Amino acid sequence: MSERTLVDPEILEKCSLYPDYVEAKLGFRNHWYPSLFSHELEEGEFKAHEILGDRLLLTRVDGKVYAVRDRCPHRGVPFSRRPECFKKGTLTCWYHAFTFKLSTGMLCDIITNPKSNLIGKVQIPTYKVEEAKGIIFIFMGDIDPPDLADDVPPGFLDENMVIRGVRQEVGSNWRIGCENGFDSTHVFIHKDSILVEGNDITLPLGFVPTSRDTFKVVDGPTGPKGVYDLLAEHCIPIFEGKIEGETVLQGHMGSNRVAYDISIWLPGVLRVDPWPDPSLTQFEWYVPIDESRHFYIQTLGRSINVPEDEAIFDEEFENKWKDLALAGFNDDDIWAREAQQEFYKHDEAWYKEQLFEPDRNISKWRQLASRHHRGIQRYENLF
Ligand code: FES
Ligand SMILES: [Fe+2]
Repeated sequence: MSERTLVDPEILEKCSLYPDYVEAKLGFRNHWYPSLFSHELEEGEFKAHEILGDRLLLTRVDGKVYAVRDRCPHRGVPFSRRPECFKKGTLTCWYHAFTFKLSTGMLCDIITNPKSNLIGKVQIPTYKVEEAKGIIFIFMGDIDPPDLADDVPPGFLDENMVIRGVRQEVGSNWRIGCENGFDSTHVFIHKDSILVEGNDITLPLGFVPTSRDTFKVVDGPTGPKGVYDLLAEHCIPIFEGKIEGETVLQGHMGSNRVAYDISIWLPGVLRVDPWPDPSLTQFEWYVPIDESRHFYIQTLGRSINVPEDEAIFDEEFENKWKDLALAGFNDDDIWAREAQQEFYKHDEAWYKEQLFEPDRNISKWRQLASRHHRGIQRYENLF
């Protein structure tokens, strides 16, 4: 099948440092993506889930999660309108009762026409699934999946790392999410956040890079691929905000020093360490839903030494961090991304934007993603 480009080739030529990134409006194919949290899918339950422009149906049988494409090959209806299961491990379409095995996607029977020649010959796409740290990861692609560890930031799968999180839909392309998270001077939008006083953190108004190469790129033959922005080593933080020489704003000097280790990883996940407290690390994914929406999956991790500490973290997560950091602070980010979408929904935006010196980290990320992704998700992949 010939591949249609998702973006006008003339525009891609103008973005010659990272054309694949500009084209990947539906995300990168052949990567692991988080979907639901494990607790969102009970035994026997069916849930529809949109990801990379594709529509999936997830279910759990004997504890194991299965994912299939949510579209009946007979007449194209979504199974999820009324998922039916008459025998464990199978899915029956509510319309004319084509019945598929969840493990292989094979049409194993048609209740309304048991002698059909189609039986054993028609298959729905199935997707590889892994559960880790309380999250259901799905491999969105058709190659042999690499280890999940290749698609998550360092530290996330560490044995002692306990992860808790929340998930919500945001009205912007997934790349705007990545770039908002990794953007060093976007710290400006957080100057009035309740987290700044609430957890007494140090938060400057911006950063001035002191050299051109302030990044560590991780792109070895194995393992995750990402970029660290070495802010603490190569940037001067701005605490006094001035206009025409007059001081008009002050950053916040708190007792908690956070966010000195910021990195972004394929296929679109940020690691901020430590954050929002010296005892925590934030890992957050921006998972494409379609061209103009992404799932923002915010997780906090704490490395614990004794099992009892998990309950302490649970309590803190529910009663403190959810409101103060994941909502209180990151709601600013959601607002900013949705405001940017109006511009970036036009492909021309990727060369008409006027980047400035601190945005070199964003350019570095775009280049890394363009070089090391495993494929571009295209509309052809959805049929
Ligand atoms: S549309 Fe699904 S069985 Fe006919
Ligand atoms: Fe932010």
